[in-house]
Amino acid sequence: MSIDDAARMFDLDGRVAIVTGASSGLGAAVARALAGLGARVAVVARRADRLAELAKEIEGTAVACDLADPAGVASLVPAVVDALGPPEILVNAAGNRFSTARAESETSDEIRDTVELNLLAPFLLAQQVFPHMRTTGRGAIVNVSSISGRVGVPGIPQASYAASKAGLSGLTTELAVQWARHSIRVNTVAPGFFRSEITDSLYDSDRGGDYLRRNIPLPKEGTAEDMVGAIVWLAGDAASYVTGQTIVVDGGWTAR
Ligand SMILES: NC(=O)c1ccc[n+]([C@@H]2O[C@H](COP(=O)([O-])OP(=O)(O)OC[C@H]3O[C@@H](n4cnc5c(N)ncnc54)[C@H](OP(=O)(O)O)[C@@H]3O)[C@@H](O)[C@H]2O)c1
Repeated sequence: MSIDDAARMFDLDGRVAIVTGASSGLGAAVARALAGLGARVAVVARRADRLAELAKEIEGTAVACDLADPAGVASLVPAVVDALGPPEILVNAAGNRFSTARAESETSDEIRDTVELNLLAPFLLAQQVFPHMRTTGRGAIVNVSSISGRVGVPGIPQASYAASKAGLSGLTTELAVQWARHSIRVNTVAPGFFRSEITDSLYDSDRGGDYLRRNIPLPKEGTAEDMVGAIVWLAGDAASYVTGQTIVVDGGWTAR
């Protein structure tokens, strides 16, 4: 490999990327990073005002869409193709917790809502980008799960959320194997805790902040930006031989 080739490993020049959950937190950070590496990025979430601002900043396009609504999901990829062209990168970062109840008390509606947003929507979007990636002859799908899909987190009940996130890893291995022949790579990044709209109240409470500091070996508070490196690596040629993996980025939480 030449020095120039090495420098270009993370280059995404001209590639069309879709990033869900881009109105805040990790999705917004990923959209900025992909754009910084040259991708043309479609940012997706429900809050249209925030998306419009970000799309302007990164010279991408905004597609406001409720990913819990199958009709919204169905309209997304065609809108991106019209605006930017066929997608080569899909980052499924949108996600949420719908219950803080203990497992025995979660309602079936809460469980269903969780699975629909966190697992069904990424699956449907992967199906929709597939024909475009197959035609182009390459593609990278990066799902965002959670360490809670891998380990139980004492004191923070989240059974449906954990199940939906673990499901993403199963989906990842299966899609990776089915679609490898088309050079479509499918991977998952499993973040540990980082500060965002979902976790602000946890970080800001004395008890929560102390709990996180005691359980995370690295001596700094996690941020969305700490998760971005693994995602842009998996999205581009630097990870050209990596598929079917779940990469944990958690400051050492699961290493203890
Ligand atoms: N923060 C953590 O500690 C942590 C840890 C592990 C995993 N994660 C995962 O990381 C990902 C990003 O989370 P974050 O922490 O950055 O939280 P965040 O700032 O709340 O971002 C969640 C994003 O998902 C979007 N979203 C939620 N419901 C949606 C829907 N029905 N349709 C379309 N978009 C929807 C939100 O936008 P709108 O509200 O505008 O729709 C928002 O952009 C999530 O998958 C989360 O599960 C986070």
